[in-house]
Amino acid sequence: MSVISIIGAGSVGSTIAYTLVTSKVCSKLLLVDVVTERAQAEVGMIDYNETNDFDTVVEAGSFKKAGQSDIIVITAGAKQKEGETRLDLVGRNTGILNGVFNDMAPLNPKAVVIIVANPCDILTYIAQEISGLPRKQVFGSGTFLDTQRLRAYLSSTLNITESSIHAYVMGEHGDSQFTAWSAGTIGNCHIDSILPKDFNKQQCEDYVKNKAYKIIKNKGATYYGISACVKSLCSSVLFDSRHVCMISHYIPHLNVCVSLPCVLGKNGVELTLTPHLNEKENASLLGSASAMRNTLDSYRT
Ligand code: LAC
Repeated sequence: MSVISIIGAGSVGSTIAYTLVTSKVCSKLLLVDVVTERAQAEVGMIDYNETNDFDTVVEAGSFKKAGQSDIIVITAGAKQKEGETRLDLVGRNTGILNGVFNDMAPLNPKAVVIIVANPCDILTYIAQEISGLPRKQVFGSGTFLDTQRLRAYLSSTLNITESSIHAYVMGEHGDSQFTAWSAGTIGNCHIDSILPKDFNKQQCEDYVKNKAYKIIKNKGATYYGISACVKSLCSSVLFDSRHVCMISHYIPHLNVCVSLPCVLGKNGVELTLTPHLNEKENASLLGSASAMRNTLDSYRT
């Protein structure tokens, strides 16, 4: 019996719940919110679909029960308003995160925690500290979504399917992210040998970086893309798929959480991979790490 709990029944949490139910990823799903009625209302809607014989039992759960789950997805937090960066949310959302872990304690010692709320990298680092779980069991969705956005852009440019395009966005899930073009390949060919001569890499990176801002401006929040990503991450953990993916996790030599490629399995981050980056990309990675470190230090003082 695999149990996934989602903390936060807002647009992101409820869309993740629906995506997990329709994908039949787990046998039981708990939707938890500080406003119990909101979780109950969302479950009521999803529950309605169970008449179409979805196999997942869906309940509005308590924080205490959520703490005993196999996977705990944390979406609870304020969302970006138009013009706000993800880092602008740090004060509000670290407070909410502390409350969530207090209410869930004691945690299932084998639980895997996936941080979706923003600023994802900062909250992942803090969650690793306050959860008491091994760092490998606590990671953030990070630039998994940004990498999907990058691959969608490249796929439409090259007319090659996304899963064959091995290009990654790394660093912060936010404004200091970067694309590691020098490490990009398609079918063992360097991506530069396939991109059109007039391909504008900066335009592509700007598109990826600004996608969320554009969606937030137009409809207030993003939730479909991140839900598909979380479904994929939950599957990798529950089925021990050991996929290589781009998620926010602790990088010892940087002493922060940012996204670098890693192997994801039943225990969380099984292995961090160290891609060969050129000088510019390495400087971007260090820049992203110092932005995270500065935010963590300022939040702490
Ligand atoms: C986005 C949110 C999940 O990038 O940060 O859509």
